[in-house]
Amino acid sequence: MRILLFSGKGGVGKTSLAAATGVRLAELGYRTLVMSVDPAHSLGDSFDLGGDLFHGQTADPYPVAERLSIQEVNIQKEIKRHWKEISSYIVSVLRTTGVSDVEAEELAILPGMEELSAMMYINQYRRQNRYDVVVLDAAPTAESMRFVAMPTTLDWYMKHIFPFQRSLLKAVRPIANRVAPFEMPSDSYFANIQALFEKLEGVDELLENPEITSVRLVTNPERMVLRETQRAFVYFSLHGLTVDMVIVNRVLPEAAGDGWFAEWRQWQAAILREIEDYFAPVPVRQVPLFRHEVLGLDRLRELARALYAEGEDPATVWRRERPYSFYKRDGVHEVRVLLPFATKGEVGVFKKGDELVIEVGTLRRHIGLPTSMAALTPARARLENGVLTVELREEVQA
Ligand SMILES: Nc1ncnc2c1ncn2[C@@H]1O[C@H](COP(=O)(O)OP(=O)(O)O)[C@@H](O)[C@H]1O
Ligand SMILES: [Mg+2]
Repeated sequence: MRILLFSGKGGVGKTSLAAATGVRLAELGYRTLVMSVDPAHSLGDSFDLGGDLFHGQTADPYPVAERLSIQEVNIQKEIKRHWKEISSYIVSVLRTTGVSDVEAEELAILPGMEELSAMMYINQYRRQNRYDVVVLDAAPTAESMRFVAMPTTLDWYMKHIFPFQRSLLKAVRPIANRVAPFEMPSDSYFANIQALFEKLEGVDELLENPEITSVRLVTNPERMVLRETQRAFVYFSLHGLTVDMVIVNRVLPEAAGDGWFAEWRQWQAAILREIEDYFAPVPVRQVPLFRHEVLGLDRLRELARALYAEGEDPATVWRRERPYSFYKRDGVHEVRVLLPFATKGEVGVFKKGDELVIEVGTLRRHIGLPTSMAALTPARARLENGVLTVELREEVQA
């Protein structure tokens, strides 16, 4: 199974491009599911399914064309399906604090529940061999970051807190129920966590395997959107996911070059060059701004033709190597960067703000450092077999 994760800031065109990709894949013969995790669902609209007709039905895979289904993860349904014990426990705790039932139920929707639910489905479909490709239309960048960090968070929680908490609770529950202001969680609560954990097992390996999961970052040729895309790129790298394509959507076509939009086009051209430099060697593709909204199968097909060459397979793995990655070895942080064409004498490394700047001759690459490493300074660098390794340490005070 392939997983194609479309991510980017709200409004850049993720849903449309994910849907268009799904249309192309299905036409090439893949059993395809386009799944939306963005709470602002618009997949159904993208396929022009028409409001009430499909309302509620897309919480499960809903066929929209031959070999093509869509699914919009619906948190209310998910709570009933996957999170029942956990959320009823949270609700019961909240009630004791005096909040109303409605509020309690609202508050019991924890961040990440949708994302985790989506991953459970992905795992399930993979086990069932139900689809060849799952195209994920992920929420705006901040949420999809959480999405990829989630399996490890849960993993950590399960390994460190859960066994301890559980045995502790077993011992104290008979007493605690009498003195504590609220009920201790019941066994079914823990059974629920355990069940969720089992459903999620192995999903992080799927996400980190570049042969299975590819991230397609969607952006627009605007500076503010680009910044967020760069951050997303760094964080996907940090979490071990491979970005294999950057898609710049809504590029003004040549025909829009005169009059009012002339300046816009020049501006876009400059940003497009910047995008290519920044993300190289990850392929960057451009999709023009259309004359119309992208609604319905025909329009989606047209969008797919703008993004992919004729007959081109969107399931292709365009990149297997992460362009750079972060490690910690014996307490020392390292950044490893693939520099296949560089020689020792021409490489320079320095830090600027919270970015590591790598110079190769006249080329420069800015690498945004994750928060945990942003305060460190480069101490040593070595170039071996086309890989530059930069050691970062805490600055020694003079
Ligand atoms: N290349 C394009 N040309 C014209 N309209 C587009 C293009 N890409 C997306 N749109 C339109 O822009 C709007 C937002 O796109 P959407 O895919 O929903 O963005 P996102 O999912 O990132 O929020 C939709 O109305 C869509 O039809
Ligand atoms: Mg969307």
